[in-house]
Amino acid sequence: MAWIVKPSAQQQMERRDQPYLTDALKTEIEKTYIPRYATRRAALLPTLHAIQHEHNWIPYQAMEEAAEFLGLTAAEVVDTASFYEEFHLHPKGRHLIQICQSISCELCGHESILEKLIDKLGIEPGETTADGKFTLETIECLGSCGTAPAVMVQENLRENVTWEKLETYLDSLE
Ligand code: FES
Repeated sequence: MAWIVKPSAQQQMERRDQPYLTDALKTEIEKTYIPRYATRRAALLPTLHAIQHEHNWIPYQAMEEAAEFLGLTAAEVVDTASFYEEFHLHPKGRHLIQICQSISCELCGHESILEKLIDKLGIEPGETTADGKFTLETIECLGSCGTAPAVMVQENLRENVTWEKLETYLDSLE
């Protein structure tokens, strides 16, 4: 078996002058989440959610800022953020389409809806359209098996999805 070598030493982290973890976000986290936990570091997950909610993804710079804010190392934040598929570590489109591929949705025709989505958007799962409008993902059970097939569009659950209903909905989005 060959080792897979990543060019980590040459990788550059993109930075911008203004912080992702703004003073307003810090205040919100300080007031809303920190009091719920025994230690600051325990508030990492809600902090990552707050950053993602604000910026639509979590850049590495934001992870460094979260680490400093919560008293963690940047590596601990990256470890956590990269473990959960709910966290997006690359920019995504304005509308994230997540199509469930678990058993109920598979039995109720998710495959044909996925094929039509790929066809319509011209992208594969994991990709974003060139105009930055849509990102397409497959995902495991959305907890809506009784109303399969299910698709989540930017945190908006669509149940009993048919291609016609989904296409009409997607066409209505800005
Ligand atoms: S299997 Fe698709 S929502 Fe549960």
